[in-house]
Amino acid sequence: MASSNDDSDKEVLTMAEIQKRAIDKDKCIMVIDNRVYDITKFLDEHPGGEEVLKEQHGKDATSAFEDVGHSTDAREQMKGYQIGVLHPDDVKKPSKSRPVIVNPSSSASSAGNDAGGSWTKWVIPIVIAVAAVVIFKLLYKPGTNINRPPKAI
Ligand code: HEM
Repeated sequence: MASSNDDSDKEVLTMAEIQKRAIDKDKCIMVIDNRVYDITKFLDEHPGGEEVLKEQHGKDATSAFEDVGHSTDAREQMKGYQIGVLHPDDVKKPSKSRPVIVNPSSSASSAGNDAGGSWTKWVIPIVIAVAAVVIFKLLYKPGTNINRPPKAI
């Protein structure tokens, strides 16, 4: 019951198997978005040149492909070169391997509340320091300085 566009009827290949096939340097096999493509016949036609494709031979070219910002036409065209799908063991799952947020409360508050938090952190010591200086100046007026020699008569 697999539709023509379904990945389920495609050969499942591990990265190791792809690299084994890539020993043949006359071929051009790569993984893009967890799908395996043999674009050997497309090398001459590629508007971006064959060199960039050869560099990706036997590799996962997803980021290289996406970095170029290929058109929808290019994405349609590549379907014709798909030979398989990447084995689930080699599929990178960014959603599951996402780095754990160590301190979610601090990251959640960074939008607005964090500014308030740092305010209090700064203001309280400054107020205490200013109050201490004012109190010191009030208590130790110049006239009350005990170290000052008595005025000569
Ligand atoms: C099956 C795979 C691929 C197909 C069918 C494909 C197809 C195309 C097409 C049709 C274009 C013309 C521009 C567009 O329509 O987006 C293009 C341009 C280009 N492609 Fe690919 N491409 C493939 C893989 C790759 C990969 C893996 C890379 C990088 C390593 C790459 C690099 C480029 C570059 C650099 C250009 C030229 C962009 C420009 O001059 O603006 N392509 N490709």
